[in-house]
Amino acid sequence: MTPRGTDWSLALLVAAGVATGLATWFAGAPGSTWVFAGHAIAGASLAVVLVVKLRRVLPKLAPASAGALGLVVVVLATGLVWSSAGSLGVGGFSLLVWHGALGAVLAALVLVHALARAKPPRRRDLADRRQFLAAAAVGAGALAAWQLQRPLQRALGLPGAERRFTGSYDAGSFSGNDFPSTSWVSDQPRPRTHRVAVDGHVRRSLALGPGELARGDELTATLDCTGGFSSTQRWAGVRLGPLLDEAGVRAGAAHVRVISRTGYRWSFGIEDARGLLLATHVGGEPLSHGHGAPCRLVAPGRRGFQWIKWVERIEVHEDPDPGALASTVLSSFSAEGRGAV
Ligand code: HEM
Repeated sequence: MTPRGTDWSLALLVAAGVATGLATWFAGAPGSTWVFAGHAIAGASLAVVLVVKLRRVLPKLAPASAGALGLVVVVLATGLVWSSAGSLGVGGFSLLVWHGALGAVLAALVLVHALARAKPPRRRDLADRRQFLAAAAVGAGALAAWQLQRPLQRALGLPGAERRFTGSYDAGSFSGNDFPSTSWVSDQPRPRTHRVAVDGHVRRSLALGPGELARGDELTATLDCTGGFSSTQRWAGVRLGPLLDEAGVRAGAAHVRVISRTGYRWSFGIEDARGLLLATHVGGEPLSHGHGAPCRLVAPGRRGFQWIKWVERIEVHEDPDPGALASTVLSSFSAEGRGAV
């Protein structure tokens, strides 16, 4: 590989790592395994190109470059340790959270560095036959490594063999409320029972108390947190489909917003939303406050941050919700989210 080809490969693989890494947050259904495969293959390819780069620059490494390359090593190592050695944590956060955060810092540094210093790739950095063969060999090796990873982990008895395809490790499945309770940022409302409103683009608004929501509809589903744990539980409550029918969805309605007391919300296509459950119970126990009492959303195949807790309103809309992503951060600064009221 030419030096310039190596540098561009490193930058593009870091970009691929962070893009597929962020995509994992939206990949919870088994059909999205390819996102995790793409991420692992980008990571393994990056490790190979890093060795090529280090062999070239090690004798004359400047301190700033040493720091940047050290960060690449730490990001790769935290990813690999997480996916092999089990659910480890440092400083109150899982290694997976550290890995994602450091990966994002690395991508930002690479972007700044590229904007300031990058020289455009020449034809011979891209189209040369040897460059092509080297890239194909690295890609094929990374794909083979990804395919061998689980069988090897199983043979070595490593905890990684037991992780889900999302990289999450099981915690407290089928244990009622006894599984980890986490928050996307830091929503911590005070405990309070309240009614749940169903309104917006409907013929008849509803306001339902906890008793009216506990209708015994059941769903066994896996909550899979982007922080790296998953928990399969028997949830019970009411399906959104019958609630929407009771309220009478008006023509043109296409999206359903599920909104927490804290302001945290997510929006679902109306057909998807019909199959979701508003859970008042888990494993036969009333939902605890930490898990979202009086009711939380159960959204199979979606990552945990979309399983809205402390649901207060179901709103039917014609349009999607461009503010939903921002609400997941801003809610922790609202008075309800901070637990100030
Ligand atoms: C430059 C940035 C990044 C690089 C180079 C990188 C690299 C890696 C590597 C090498 C692994 C181990 C893969 C395996 O052994 O299966 C991994 C795992 C993982 N990474 Fe990243 N990563 C980056 C950024 C991110 C970000 C930003 C996120 C999330 C926002 C993320 C989420 C994950 C997840 C969920 C896993 C576990 C996958 C599994 O166990 O199968 N990564 N990463």
